[in-house]
Amino acid sequence: MKKKLIAGNWKMNGSLTSNEALLQALVAGVADKECLVAVCVPAPYLAQAQGLASGSGIDVGSQDVSQHESGAYTGELSATMLKDFGVRYAIVGHSERRQYHAESDALVALKAQRALASGITPIVCVGETLAEREAGQTEDVVKRQLAAVIHANGHCISEIVVAYEPVWAIGTGKTASPEEAQQVHAVLRGQLKAATQHADRVHILYGGSMNAANAKQLLSQDDIDGGLVGGASLKAPEFLSIIAAAC
Ligand code: PGA
Repeated sequence: MKKKLIAGNWKMNGSLTSNEALLQALVAGVADKECLVAVCVPAPYLAQAQGLASGSGIDVGSQDVSQHESGAYTGELSATMLKDFGVRYAIVGHSERRQYHAESDALVALKAQRALASGITPIVCVGETLAEREAGQTEDVVKRQLAAVIHANGHCISEIVVAYEPVWAIGTGKTASPEEAQQVHAVLRGQLKAATQHADRVHILYGGSMNAANAKQLLSQDDIDGGLVGGASLKAPEFLSIIAAAC
């Protein structure tokens, strides 16, 4: 069985001082844990996180990556730059990027492709809004979002991580029930199976108000291979409890 992956998404939070305390607590708390752990930090803190997490088994990730290789793209971060800082994962297509930065399925697919080309594992986020769920469109939406990435990445698709994050559950305290989440994860697994014979290797994470109280049940579902954790990843005891539930 593959190890579960618990990835923290700090979003636009942190400071040199608070990051240091958080990372030191995480490093102390993950020692000899049997699962994969990562923190996706704001870009200015990549070097700090890499330094503090070095040798601890905690991987460092970014929260985005440019679809371009290099050049006149002010404000963008290239995959090769991220690689320079030891970045292992890059979140792509987070719903906050899709919503506030108008990122399309096609753009997300290009970003995933760019990350893979530099040896960075893209964490591809998919998920429906509340209106889409209520209209019975959940499966169509997540399949459309993942299909774009499969189409652009061909046989490399077994190298990605997928995160199912229902938009209505992100930062709201509302979580998909383990059964609701599993149902969507099974759909995504099926879609990956149609694209690669290595679909079982792919981590499919759940994200959306995962916390110490609900993690164990979510993570016990067949196709839930870990979590992408926002708010609860900013508090060491809470994040470590989720990690403990996964290991
Ligand atoms: P949340 O965020 O855990 O705060 O709901 C998850 C995410 O957006 O990745």
